[in-house]
Amino acid sequence: MSYQVIARKYRPAKFSDITAQEHVTRTIQNSLRMGRVGHGYIFSGLRGVGKTTAARIFAKALNCQKLMDDPDYLQQVTEPCGECESCRDFDSGTSLNISEFDAASNNSVDDIRALRENVRYGPQKGKYRVYIIDEVHMLSIAAFNAFLKTLEEPPPHAIFIFATTELHKIPATISSRCQRFNFKRIPLEDIQKQLQLVCDAEHITVEGDALQLIGRKAQGSMRDAQSILDQVIAFSAENDHEGAISYQGVAELLNYIDDDTMFDVTDAVAAQNPAKMLDVAQFVIKNGYDEQDFLEKLVEHLRNFLVVQNLSSTRLVERPDAVRERYLQDAGNFTPLAVMQMVDFILQTQKELKFQFEYQFRFELALLKLIDIVHAVSSGTLPVATVPPPQKKKFLTTN
Ligand SMILES: Nc1ncnc2c1ncn2[C@@H]1O[C@H](COP(=O)(O)OP(=O)(O)OP(=O)(O)O)[C@@H](O)[C@H]1O
Ligand SMILES: [Mg+2]
Ligand SMILES: [Zn+2]
Repeated sequence: MSYQVIARKYRPAKFSDITAQEHVTRTIQNSLRMGRVGHGYIFSGLRGVGKTTAARIFAKALNCQKLMDDPDYLQQVTEPCGECESCRDFDSGTSLNISEFDAASNNSVDDIRALRENVRYGPQKGKYRVYIIDEVHMLSIAAFNAFLKTLEEPPPHAIFIFATTELHKIPATISSRCQRFNFKRIPLEDIQKQLQLVCDAEHITVEGDALQLIGRKAQGSMRDAQSILDQVIAFSAENDHEGAISYQGVAELLNYIDDDTMFDVTDAVAAQNPAKMLDVAQFVIKNGYDEQDFLEKLVEHLRNFLVVQNLSSTRLVERPDAVRERYLQDAGNFTPLAVMQMVDFILQTQKELKFQFEYQFRFELALLKLIDIVHAVSSGTLPVATVPPPQKKKFLTTN
């Protein structure tokens, strides 16, 4: 059997398998139950969060024979059965009731005319033909206009699902004729759970912290998380014993700057130890980490300090337990004001580094400067307010 990437192999086949988009799936299932299905939908949201997947399941459900014939099943289950002829055609990719159209590469008026021509013909089997138009924001204005008429008076069998990562680029004339669904970024926890399911099904042993790291890197996109997992599995098979996936292995593959290095920075600041800080800077430079990435991580690290200082808890810190514990321990090393001053300074440095040449040198200096900033805050010598002092009003004399 040929190898299939995880994102495709584990593409959800039912509404209930779609993670974290219940606000969308529930509404669609309700409309199926009530027999109130619209003709135009916009699915918007980040890459890899389930837009195409949801559109395909919707199309499958609309044509499922069991859902059409069995009112109890429709009311109680409201999922494509996966067994009738239509569902099997969908699953094997041979159904003629779904057409996927990539607007990024077919965006001319002629392409839309051809599509419109196609839309006039009803389905040979089943009830509805569903047109998924991906990356719809890439259509030209003329192409959108060519579409408008079809959308205003669609044939009863036609349903359009426009998918886009850039909702704001869709003209109001189109979006106001559609039902809009905004897909959410998938929470880290849900990504982690899904990756764990995949690993279990593939009989792969994995450390929970390793999956968390992958999830963090994916920043809310399930597809990205699954692609990274593919890569990690291949990497671990080569490098680790028995192909188990370890935190260390993932950190290495992703060239991930680990939390310890971040704590080295805050430790050096707390201990007022410039030698230690220079070691960290050298470590970053020698290992070929990107300085901007490093500073970004450092801002996130400091953000975690602020969260813990303000909440006295780590519930909003997405890190392994041992690391959370460390934030709790270290939070008292600085005042919130000192942390905020460091954040401000780093954000400023990030901007400046973009335009600098002596890059590594500046980076080292910036890290060293953090020690001074915190020292100045604690000794009360840092001018906190940056608002200029009020000017004395000049009064006109009247004589
Ligand atoms: N909400 C989700 N629940 C479970 N798996 C998901 C979810 N979203 C995405 N996936 C996984 O990611 C893969 C890609 O998802 P999908 O094609 O639906 O993304 P998309 O939102 O259409 O992305 P793009 O904007 O790049 O087209 C799916 O095959 C599935 O394995
Ligand atoms: Mg898609
Ligand atoms: Zn079916």
